[in-house]
Amino acid sequence: MINLLKIMLLFLLCVAMATAAGVKHEPIRPLVIDQNLDPRMVSLGDKLFHDARLSQDNSISCSSCHVLSAGGTDRKRVSVGIGGAVGGIKAPTVYNATFNFVQFWDGRAASLEQQAAGPVHNPVEMNSNWEEVISKLEQDPAMMEEFDALFDDGITEENISTAIATFEHSLVTLNSRFDRWLLGEQGVLTKQELRGYRLFKSYGCISCHQGMNVGGNMYGFMGARGDYFKDRQGTITTADLGRYNVTKDSEDRHYFKVPSLRLAAINPPYFHDGSEKTLKGAVRIMGRYQLGRELPESDIEDIVAFLHTLVGEHIRLKP
Ligand code: HEC
Ligand code: HEC
Repeated sequence: MINLLKIMLLFLLCVAMATAAGVKHEPIRPLVIDQNLDPRMVSLGDKLFHDARLSQDNSISCSSCHVLSAGGTDRKRVSVGIGGAVGGIKAPTVYNATFNFVQFWDGRAASLEQQAAGPVHNPVEMNSNWEEVISKLEQDPAMMEEFDALFDDGITEENISTAIATFEHSLVTLNSRFDRWLLGEQGVLTKQELRGYRLFKSYGCISCHQGMNVGGNMYGFMGARGDYFKDRQGTITTADLGRYNVTKDSEDRHYFKVPSLRLAAINPPYFHDGSEKTLKGAVRIMGRYQLGRELPESDIEDIVAFLHTLVGEHIRLKP
């Protein structure tokens, strides 16, 4: 009898210890990096990402709009491309983009490999084309050598895209305080941050912003509980139509890929239209238009505190 009691107590102790130290089961998962990325491919992709020859007049590289030291965006309301051309939409970060189920606000690219052609051809971004880019790169013997070492068929559209995408797969912000907490580390989050996370779940933000990227795994309607576009005023732009631009199905108007909130704390302004300057304001708008609630100021502050814990580390990212 006493032995049975001992065994039961031991069992309970084990369960308690496992729960205290173990990985937490939450609707947000810690980020992981693909350990099998070929470092030579990453390095070539890195060079191409910073290579202005991908633009028509050699003035703009991917990194002009996705500044790696500054959160992987340009922190502008809308991007400015070749010859000062103004785009119609906010540039999302390239950090952790590898975890998005599709790329672009409207999901028009299925993968990072497919995405790279977009900016190269976009008249208000790089305004070039693969033929032009390839012929420029082929005049560079060092570049030719690097491609030949990795591919059988030299510099091609596909190989450029593969290299850039491989580099982007390496842009993962590991080791955020929130991930450390998820992995069982004690004392890494303050009471306010934990309260913010609980509110994020109880208000239902988590129903759209979830998974590894705290977003990036579904489409969401902008204005589920209120007419965001009517209240914002001004004309409805093509960019505002969101997923509709891809499917031409009127039911898809104003649907957008739910953005990742991993680096939201450091990447203002917010939303596809870059219309909101502060994170507090963005959380307030989400409460109003996605949940139909006016969130109390203190809850907004707690949620903002939680969102700051999601920012992880990368050697290129300056805190
Ligand atoms: C002129 C600024 C500009 C340049 C140059 C540029 N981008 Fe972008 N990038 C944007 C904007 C704006 C978007 C959002 C467009 C949209 O969703 O319709 C975007 C979206 C993306 C996305 C999608 C991220 C997501 O969460 O959906 C990736 C990845 C990306 N760009 C990578 C690149 C790469 C790689 C290059 C170089 C080949 C590049 N960008 C060049 C402005 C730029
Ligand atoms: C119904 C789904 C849904 C819910 C619920 C939701 N969001 Fe969002 N969230 C979105 C979509 C879609 C966008 C992009 C909208 C746009 O750009 O027009 C977004 C954008 C954001 C952004 C801006 C990110 C950026 O980089 O621009 C933040 C911050 C945010 N949400 C936080 C929250 C918080 C906090 C809550 C809970 C109070 C919440 N969201 C609830 C779908 C949702």
